[in-house]
Amino acid sequence: KTENKDFLDGAGPSQRCDLPVKLLRRGCGPEFMEQSEIKVEVNATVSSTQVSPRDISITLRPGSEASVIVAVKQLERYPVDLYYLVDVSASMQENLDHLKTVGVALSLRMTEHSSDLWLGFGSFVDKPVSPYINVHPSKINNPCSDYEIRCRPAHGFHHVLSMTGNMSEFTRVIKRQRISGNMDTPEGGLDAMLQAAVCQRSVGWRPEAKRLLLLMTDQPSHLALDSRLAGIVTPHDGLCHLENNVYTGSTRMDHPSVGQLSDKLLENHMYSIFAVEKQQYQWYEELVRLLPGSYLGKLGLFQAPNLIELVVDAYKRLLSEVAVSVSVEDKAVSRYWVSVSPLCPNGSTAKDQSCSGVQPDQTVYFNITIGMRSCPDDGEDEDVTVLVRPVGYNESTIVRIHSKCRCSCGPMRHCNDDSQSPCKGTQDSSNQEQRPDHGLIKDSDRDSNRNCRGDGSDVDCSGRGVCECGRCVCEQTRLGTVYGKYCEIDDFSCPYEGGLLCGGRGVCVSGECVCEDDWTGDSCGCSVSTATCQSANGLLCSGQGRCVCGKCVCEDPRHSGDFCERCPSCQSTCQSYWYLKCVDCHLSHGLSQKEAGHCNNTCAPLVGYMDDVSGTATLANRICSEHNCTLGLCTFVVLWI
Ligand SMILES: *[C@@H]1O[C@H](CO)[C@@H](O)[C@H](O)[C@H]1NC(C)=O
Ligand SMILES: *[C@@H]1O[C@H](CO)[C@@H](O)[C@H](O)[C@H]1NC(C)=O
Ligand SMILES: *[C@@H]1O[C@H](CO)[C@@H](O)[C@H](O)[C@H]1NC(C)=O
Ligand SMILES: *[C@@H]1O[C@H](CO)[C@@H](O)[C@H](O)[C@H]1NC(C)=O
Ligand SMILES: *[C@@H]1O[C@H](CO)[C@@H](O)[C@H](O)[C@H]1NC(C)=O
Repeated sequence: KTENKDFLDGAGPSQRCDLPVKLLRRGCGPEFMEQSEIKVEVNATVSSTQVSPRDISITLRPGSEASVIVAVKQLERYPVDLYYLVDVSASMQENLDHLKTVGVALSLRMTEHSSDLWLGFGSFVDKPVSPYINVHPSKINNPCSDYEIRCRPAHGFHHVLSMTGNMSEFTRVIKRQRISGNMDTPEGGLDAMLQAAVCQRSVGWRPEAKRLLLLMTDQPSHLALDSRLAGIVTPHDGLCHLENNVYTGSTRMDHPSVGQLSDKLLENHMYSIFAVEKQQYQWYEELVRLLPGSYLGKLGLFQAPNLIELVVDAYKRLLSEVAVSVSVEDKAVSRYWVSVSPLCPNGSTAKDQSCSGVQPDQTVYFNITIGMRSCPDDGEDEDVTVLVRPVGYNESTIVRIHSKCRCSCGPMRHCNDDSQSPCKGTQDSSNQEQRPDHGLIKDSDRDSNRNCRGDGSDVDCSGRGVCECGRCVCEQTRLGTVYGKYCEIDDFSCPYEGGLLCGGRGVCVSGECVCEDDWTGDSCGCSVSTATCQSANGLLCSGQGRCVCGKCVCEDPRHSGDFCERCPSCQSTCQSYWYLKCVDCHLSHGLSQKEAGHCNNTCAPLVGYMDDVSGTATLANRICSEHNCTLGLCTFVVLWI
C-alpha cells in the first residue's frame, strides 16, 4: 500500500487526478483510486399534493450530468384568488362602472371550475411626478379640474380591497372608486403589478389558491428606464413598499424590467391576465410572450359579460397549460446547464418545455437534465441550488447540487500539513526507513538533503526539483510531469511517433510507453489487431506470412503484395512436384529407367521416360490432363533419356 502513497511521488497533487484508465496504466491499482460518483437522492420526507418530488440532492463532477423526473399533477378544483388591478386614469371611467356588476356574476360563473373565488382590488395611474402628471398646484389634488369633475390625485399604486369572498363587499368598494388623471399616454401598469404580486400580506393572497392578477388598462405601460425623464435612476429593488396601502416607492425607483416582473410573478406563483382594449392589443401581445403564465384578452368595450367570459377563458387556458421554469442560482449559472423535456399526458414529448390541453387530474412529467461544466475558479467543492418551478403552482422542487471538484487522496506530505513549523519535530530513524512516505523530519540540512539523492547521485532530486524537508518536490515542466522519490522519473522521456508521445496511444511511465489495449511497440505504433492482415480468402496474409504491426510480412520470399497474395513465380502442383521431388530424385539417381525405380514412390505418375521424341506431345498431354495443369508447364516433366 505504501507503494501507492508514493504514486507520482514528488509531483503536484493535480497530477494525481486523471482518467481511471490512464492512472491504471501508470501503475495505480483500482483499489487506490477515489472516484466521486454521480448520485441522485430524493428526500421523500417533504409531502406534496401537486409537484413531486419536492427535494432532490444530486452529486456531480465536472463533465457529468444527471436527470431527474418531476411530476406535476393538476387537481380537480382549486380555490381561486383574483385581483383586479385597474387603471383609473380618466379614460377608464366607463370600465370602472362596468366592474361594479362583475363580482357576483363572476363568482357564480366560476363555481363550475373553482371551489371558491375570492376577489381583491387595487388601482394605479402612473408615477406622480413631472412630466407624467401636471404639477400645477391646482391640478395635483384634482387632475380633472379642467373638466369640472372631481377626481383623485394620480398614484403609482393603491391597494384598495384585500382578498375577500364577500361579493357584496367587493361591489361596495368598487362603487366608491373614483377616477384620476395624468398627462402622458403610457401608464405605470408593470410597476403596480409588481407591488400587487410581492405585497403578499397586504393583498391577502391565499397560499392554497390559484392566483390570477388581472390588469385592466386602455394604454400601454411604461418600461424600465422610462422614468429617467423624471430623474429617477434607481432600479427597482423588487420589494414591497406599501404603507397604509399606498405604494411609497413609486417616486424613488424606476419601473421594473420585464424580466424582474416575470421572476416575481413566478416566485409568487401568479398567473397574469391582461384585459386591454383592442388598440393596445399588439403592444401587450409582445409583453405576454415574455411573461410565463400570462394571458391576453381583447375587449371591445369593457362590458361586464365580456369581462366575465374573459376571466373564465383565461383561467381555463392558463390551467390547462403546464410549464416549468428552471433556474440555477446566480453565482453558478455559467457552470451548469439544464435541459427540460416534458412528457405530456397525451404521450407526446413537446419540444417547447410545456404541455397544453392538460385536464384536471392529469399528470405531466418533466425530464430535467442538469449537467456540470466546470468547477469554480478556486477548485473547491460547492453547493448550488436549482429551482424547478411549475408556472402558477404553489409548490416547487428544489434540486441541491453537490459538486465534487476535489478528492481526498492528495499526496501525503506531513511537513506541508503543518506549515507553521515545516521541518521541525522528531521521529526515530528506523521509523523513517520504514515509512518514507510520511516525510522525513530532520533538523540538519545535510541529513535532510541526503534523503533527496538517489544512490550515487550528487545532486538533489536529480537536478529536477527542490529538496524540502527531506523530500523532493519536483519541478513542473511544460513537457510533462516529473515525479519519483528523487524526481528521477518523468512522463515525457519516451519515444515519439507521428509527433506524439507514445504515438498518442499510451502513457509514458519511467521512460517506457505503456500502450493502450490493441497497441504495442516501443512507441505504441503497432496495432495488435490482425484485421488489416485479413486477405480476401479469409486467411491471415493469404497463409503465406505473419501479421506484424497490422502489416503482412511474407514468409516465402517468392510472395509479395499487401496480403502476400501475389506470387508470379509460384506455379501449380505439377511444377512444384517437378521442382521439389521428381527431378531432384531422378537427377540424383541417374537418368535411366532402371534407376528411376527409386523415384517411383514420389513421382512415378508424373514422369514418363521417353526414347521416342515423336510421342512426347501425347504423353505430355495425358500427364497434364491428369494433373490439371497447362501444357506449357508440363512439357518439362517428360524427361529425355
Ligand atoms: C429532507 O427534508 C427535510 C425538510 O426540509 C429536512 O429536514 C431533512 O434534513 C432532509 N433530509 C435529507 C436527507 O436531505
Ligand atoms: C359582506 O359585506 C357586507 C358589506 O360590506 C357586510 O355588510 C356583510 O356583513 C359581509 N358579510 C360577511 C359574511 O362578512
Ligand atoms: C398548494 O395548493 C394546494 C391546492 O390548493 C394545497 O392543497 C396546498 O396546501 C398548497 N400548498 C401550500 C404550501 O400552500
Ligand atoms: C399532445 O400535446 C402536445 C403538447 O401540448 C401538442 O403539441 C400535441 O399536438 C398533442 N398531440 C396530440 C396527438 O394530441
Ligand atoms: C431524460 O433525458 C436524458 C437526456 O436527454 C435522457 O438521457 C434520459 O434517458 C431521459 N430519461 C427519461 C426517463 O426519459
